[in-house]
Amino acid sequence: MTTDNPFLPFHVPEIGDEEIRSVVETLRSGWLTTGSKVKQFEENFALYTGATHAVAVNSGTAALHLALDAIGIKEGDEVIVPTMTFTATAEVVLYFKARPILVDCEADTLNIDPDRIERKITPKTRAIIPVHIAGQPCNMDKIVQIARAHNLKVIEDAAHALPALYRGKMVGTIGDITCFSFYATKTITTGEGGMATTNNPEWADRMRMMSLHGISKDAWKRYTSEGSWYYEVLYPGYKYNLTDIAAAIGIEQLKKCDRFVEARRRIASIYNETFADLPEMRRPACGPDVQHAWHLYVIQLELERLRITRNEFIEALKKENIGTSVHFIPLHLHPYYRNTLGCKPQDFPNASAVFERIVSLPIYPKMTEGDVQNVIAAVKRIVREYRR
Ligand SMILES: Cc1ncc(COP(=O)(O)O)c(C=O)c1O
Repeated sequence: MTTDNPFLPFHVPEIGDEEIRSVVETLRSGWLTTGSKVKQFEENFALYTGATHAVAVNSGTAALHLALDAIGIKEGDEVIVPTMTFTATAEVVLYFKARPILVDCEADTLNIDPDRIERKITPKTRAIIPVHIAGQPCNMDKIVQIARAHNLKVIEDAAHALPALYRGKMVGTIGDITCFSFYATKTITTGEGGMATTNNPEWADRMRMMSLHGISKDAWKRYTSEGSWYYEVLYPGYKYNLTDIAAAIGIEQLKKCDRFVEARRRIASIYNETFADLPEMRRPACGPDVQHAWHLYVIQLELERLRITRNEFIEALKKENIGTSVHFIPLHLHPYYRNTLGCKPQDFPNASAVFERIVSLPIYPKMTEGDVQNVIAAVKRIVREYRR
């Protein structure tokens, strides 16, 4: 069966007149690159998350890279990374000629399984990068406890987790450094962008300096009346600074962050309620200790109860004009990681099994009540048609 509804994309960012006005004002200001808007965005973000320092950069990947640099990752070090994540989490480890050590996920939350971390720790291990999959914080008590016991740093990949709480604590204030993404699909967006938060002033300074070529402090001011032409290169840094144009969007988006997450939570609770009577699919598991950011709504198909595969389910939804995605293809199944790390599907039984079953349904503030109902109706129609 097909539908007359227009195609519902997997995601559409919500950009209002406020963001447009703010960008236009910045374009007219004569200052386009890193400047007062970025500073404002950093200050507002630190206030919002409760972190002492926030360093804005041009992607979540850049934030992760700078975080590993700040804690001093070196060639030959090992860093624990979940296999159930986007490649950015592990590729930044490789930038240092260090080794990502993949760990399996929990079958229900899809977050890194803390019980499997300790077995992977060796004398070379320096850090753990937990990823709060879909916006649900990992078991941070256990992870921090393991890290402290082995003298490891915790760099949180919170690309999905703005805003999220773990036992009442805001993500961004728990690990040593937390990295956020403002990619177009994230809770708030700047098109591309990212932020690293930390309570450690030395790491914040180092990340800020390395985000702009490793040149001396406040180098961005050198073309302003406050600045000086003189600067010194202290380290070979990177070109990761955020523009004021992007920050102008970020400032306005951050003001709406609570409303955005509320809209996501509402959709998640409607999905949770209406899908409760479908034994052909499992709803996302949500632990009692967390407040979920609901960046993603990932269902797990009970394939034993269906006559179609996950890929066919996605195709059927596409025919119903519903866009979906898969988060994630575990890293150990990608050719690069498979070949260089020598990992096999059976080394990661949960992620390997779960990968065959997962589908991410649309969930974003711009969805109308009708859109949500269309997704529900399409899922129900497909399940009805293909149940065993
Ligand atoms: C889990 C995770 N980590 C890191 C990133 C990288 O963020 P960015 O695209 O801003 O570099 C993403 C991006 O989608 C992600 O999903």
